[in-house]
Amino acid sequence: MPRIRLYMAPMKGFTDYIFRSAFADHFGGFDLAVAPFIASKQDQRIKRKYVKDVLPENNTRMPVVPQILSKTAADFTFLANYLYDLGYDTVNWNLGCPFPMVANKQRGSGMLPHTDRIRAFLDRVIPEIRGSLSIKLRLGWKESADIFRLLPVIDPHPLSEIIIHPRTGLQRYQGPVDLDAFEDCLAVTRHPVVYNGDIRTVDDFRRLSRRFDRVYAWMIGRWCLADPFLPVRITTGADDIPDKIYRMQRFHEDLFEAYNRVLDGPSHVLSKMKGFWQYFSLPFEDCKKTIKEVRKTHRPDQYLAQVNLFFDTQAQSGRPQAKISA
Ligand SMILES: Cc1cc2nc3c(=O)[nH]c(=O)nc-3n(C[C@H](O)[C@H](O)[C@H](O)COP(=O)(O)O)c2cc1C
Repeated sequence: MPRIRLYMAPMKGFTDYIFRSAFADHFGGFDLAVAPFIASKQDQRIKRKYVKDVLPENNTRMPVVPQILSKTAADFTFLANYLYDLGYDTVNWNLGCPFPMVANKQRGSGMLPHTDRIRAFLDRVIPEIRGSLSIKLRLGWKESADIFRLLPVIDPHPLSEIIIHPRTGLQRYQGPVDLDAFEDCLAVTRHPVVYNGDIRTVDDFRRLSRRFDRVYAWMIGRWCLADPFLPVRITTGADDIPDKIYRMQRFHEDLFEAYNRVLDGPSHVLSKMKGFWQYFSLPFEDCKKTIKEVRKTHRPDQYLAQVNLFFDTQAQSGRPQAKISA
């Protein structure tokens, strides 16, 4: 059986270098992470602060592919070459972001209907970049016809892989993934394809990997925050992982301490940590009230007391719920 390759999905606001490092230390299971997007800028100057998330010294625990959001070839090329010069082999182009402030400016998934623009972009960028390129994309903005116009255009280009999330931009992260359309994509591209979307359980992975044996790698986003043992359970087949709650508690502790070291003051740390509970709370049934208490805290000591109370008393492993709001 071929080796299973798993990638951590980029999630802006969540899977930054602090999270990725703590995740690698405590759970593992991923081959690499695609970092959340960096938007290209017009003034071709790069401050280190702007690319802090992908500086090699911050990414010693897990291999990373930086991602760029851009619709302008010259700006993309400049930033990509900066990233290759930092030592990265591959940079990923984001053609998937569904958020209106991005997509309405014809960036991310908003660019998908504009096949000619993508063609012109790649024609300019590919000869000028000093490393390889991968693309993360959806089926389209409104409809999957976009990707079927696009795949023949990107096929001749030397891409390292394409990552397909089989939803449209309008769907954002809800509604069914279109697996039939994904299957049709596999049939018409020569590039290695990475599948991404709604891999929530080991059974989901098994079902998908049986159906799509030509998939090169698999990418998991929200569901590795909800169940951080999922990647290692997929790659090793191990089902009974001991001390799950205890290990999640240690992970949470390390995450909290690491954000304390790098963020500017306790209110930033608290708002960052509280954001994670949208996902962390999913595997635990009957604990909405406690999570609400966690969200209501205003000081780090209150927050930690509530979280520890939760882990020490109420946390019970269960299946992640079927719905999740991103
Ligand atoms: C809060 C949030 C932020 C995201 N940020 C990015 C991003 O920066 N770049 C990107 O390509 N995709 C981004 N995504 C999309 C994910 O990478 C992934 O495609 C999506 O969550 C579906 O995979 P999943 O079902 O495994 O979560 C984001 C998704 C969410 C929910």
